[in-house]
Amino acid sequence: MNTYFTEEGSVEAVNARIASDTEPRLAEVMSALVKHLHAFAKEVQLTQDEWEIGIDFLTKTGQICSEERQEFILLSDTLGFSMLVDAINNRRPEEATENTVFGPFHVVGAPERPMGASISLDGKGESCLFEGRVTDLDGNPVEDARIDVWSDNSDGFYDVQQPGIQPKWNNRGIFVTGPDGCYSFVGIKPVSYPIPDDGPVGQMLGRLGRHPFRPAHMHYLVTAPGFQKVVTHTFVGDDVYLDSDTVFGVKRTLVAPFEAVEGGATMWRSPFDFVLVPIGKDQ
Ligand code: BEZ
Ligand code: FE
Repeated sequence: MNTYFTEEGSVEAVNARIASDTEPRLAEVMSALVKHLHAFAKEVQLTQDEWEIGIDFLTKTGQICSEERQEFILLSDTLGFSMLVDAINNRRPEEATENTVFGPFHVVGAPERPMGASISLDGKGESCLFEGRVTDLDGNPVEDARIDVWSDNSDGFYDVQQPGIQPKWNNRGIFVTGPDGCYSFVGIKPVSYPIPDDGPVGQMLGRLGRHPFRPAHMHYLVTAPGFQKVVTHTFVGDDVYLDSDTVFGVKRTLVAPFEAVEGGATMWRSPFDFVLVPIGKDQ
């Protein structure tokens, strides 16, 4: 086969170079990537100037990455790609709790706190009792579920974004269920916040007339022996950004009640149950 490069035969010219003993999955992924990348350039008739702008954008995206900042993930998130990969890999029965985007602000090693304890260490914000049950698909309680939670403070920042300003582990904690599968903790009613938008991704959003905000949410990572991990949030239902989350993370089933409490220990109460799927169960 002639594999000299031509516009028409561009995909074949490149993919013919993949060695026959290449690991099959790598060959499959790379050849599809080349196919779709070339189709994209052909569809939009990409100009040389536009190609250079794209290369410059990707270069700047890489250059701003550090231990603390992952601009490529932010790019993936804002293009809806993170949510797509998550959806492909987490198809679940209808009654199970849905996943959503993980985000960059989880920290491994948050303190395990007694059930019912407060995660709000800066004394700011409107207090909220988060409570519910962790069950299997049949409604049986799940014991030993680890519920790792994190949220922003009332100024819209995670503790790791404000070291020295917020107490370490502010609005974070891990709660482990007992035989009844119940959990409860006190946090604050989360507030909406912009994702880091002072880099190339923020510029892209600006050029596209998109805002950088996420609707208010509480993050959860729920793990339990024998069950599939759930990476999710609950969302505050009256948030103005609910329909335009900049990373497309909102799902109808994850919008939780936030009820005002009259004369209680907290100003708000947000009930939400987690339904886990056993490992090995197909959709
Ligand atoms: C977050 O919810 O923490 C988040 C998710 C995606 C990008 C930036 C932040
Ligand atoms: Fe978040």
